[in-house]
Amino acid sequence: MVRPVGVPQRKMTYWNIKGSVPDSANEQVRVPNVIALVGLPARGKTYISHKLCRYLNWIGIKTKAFNVGEYRRAACNLEEQGEFEFFSPHNDKGNKIREECARLAIEDMGRYLDSKEGEVAILDATNTTRDRRKMLVDYCREMQHDPPFRVFFVESVCDDPDIINSNITEVKINSPDYKGIMSEEAAKEDFLKRIEMYKMQYEPIDEECDEDLSYIKVINAGKSFYVHNVNGHVQSRVVYFLMNIHLLPRSIYLTRHGESEYNQIGRLGGDSPLSQNGLKYAGKLQEYFEKEKIGELRIWSSQKIRAAQTASTMAHLAAHVEYWKVLDEIDAGICEGLSYEDFESRYPKQFAERDKDKYHYRYPSGESYEDLVARLEPVIMELERQSNVLVVSHQAVLRCILAYFTNQRRDDLPYLKVPLHTVIKLTPKAYSCQVEMFKFNIDAVNTYREKPATDGNPKTEE
Ligand code: ATP
Ligand code: F6P
Repeated sequence: MVRPVGVPQRKMTYWNIKGSVPDSANEQVRVPNVIALVGLPARGKTYISHKLCRYLNWIGIKTKAFNVGEYRRAACNLEEQGEFEFFSPHNDKGNKIREECARLAIEDMGRYLDSKEGEVAILDATNTTRDRRKMLVDYCREMQHDPPFRVFFVESVCDDPDIINSNITEVKINSPDYKGIMSEEAAKEDFLKRIEMYKMQYEPIDEECDEDLSYIKVINAGKSFYVHNVNGHVQSRVVYFLMNIHLLPRSIYLTRHGESEYNQIGRLGGDSPLSQNGLKYAGKLQEYFEKEKIGELRIWSSQKIRAAQTASTMAHLAAHVEYWKVLDEIDAGICEGLSYEDFESRYPKQFAERDKDKYHYRYPSGESYEDLVARLEPVIMELERQSNVLVVSHQAVLRCILAYFTNQRRDDLPYLKVPLHTVIKLTPKAYSCQVEMFKFNIDAVNTYREKPATDGNPKTEE
């Protein structure tokens, strides 16, 4: 075909399909980032650092939190440390120990990033003085770090006495600083005095003096935000995440669809309806949620027939059931509709590759668990924003969601147990997530395939 004059030939862009992210984006992610918390005690700094760490690791950005309080407890025993006076700006010995602990944590953080063990380090400390923040910024900009680290401050500002009181009574009095050492009453009193000690030296990040810094101020647990100088991919993800989380108590319920006809005959994927057992489960599930009487329940289901059939029995318990394509099961590509045995005998090399690295293995013309995590990120963000939600989905999808809330390693994620006819209730707590499993007494096949003990040698592909 003759190309008309003046029409440029279309340039082909080749994408690295396996990595699926163009190099420039990877480059952005690879710049080491330090996220430093700032704020008075009981302002949710440790809570934020745990949550951020879990989120960043889940989306594939290797992250570790360094808690300076733990360095302090290792440096001096609590009797030696004494009580709130240790934190007084006039206590020279206390100041020296605290500075030394901060330095040790910062250096460990530096080694973690310099060695490329991880991409993001979170410094969980009060960092309440301008001097301390300057020390951190200077350290991160030192030439020895190649490339230098980007620093992003997350300051939690809270003057709501109800939030502070509940933080102290629900979390602080149980901290290793107090638990088993003094009564709850005495711990509360001491902690309030500790806050006063910090107030004497606190210099909040200031719009004018700290013009050069990159930071977000989270005000009264997310009622409002002030965001300044966001620099790069990681920092923008952090801002996006922090603007979506909330502290209201709630639970998230996960369930697979009832047993399907394909489950019964051991086939992967497909879009078959529920089996007789599956229909029974859908009925019992409805009774369960009717009894639970969960306020303002939202129900999200995948668009597969088996999930929609299960969720629709509960439609009267929510304003409406939302059917999300992103909640559909992992796409097994050329293996859709096969059993594991068929898969192994037809594609032995592929089968062995999946066993070797199940998280990254992508079915030809289908998806990997890594792809699923990327597909599910908007669901996680929406779950963070909501109160009580019931998610009716599938084995692989629910493993990804469960792994996010329970902070599981990527290698373990594809092997998490999410059995049929079981409701998993997740209740987020201050630094963790409570997991309760309710197994229904209705027969169902077991679709779990154990992690093989050895990699095995693949037979030749047909
Ligand atoms: P410390 O300086 O003593 O280590 P901290 O600032 O790290 O204190 P946390 O231990 O994280 O405080 O406090 C946990 C509590 O903070 C949780 O109960 C959580 O609900 C609450 N919390 C989480 N985020 C915020 C926030 N942005 N503002 C105030 N409280 C919050
Ligand atoms: O067998 C049920 C099922 O939901 C399949 O549709 C899906 O391919 C599979 O589980 C995912 O589990 P695994 O990743 O362990 O093969």
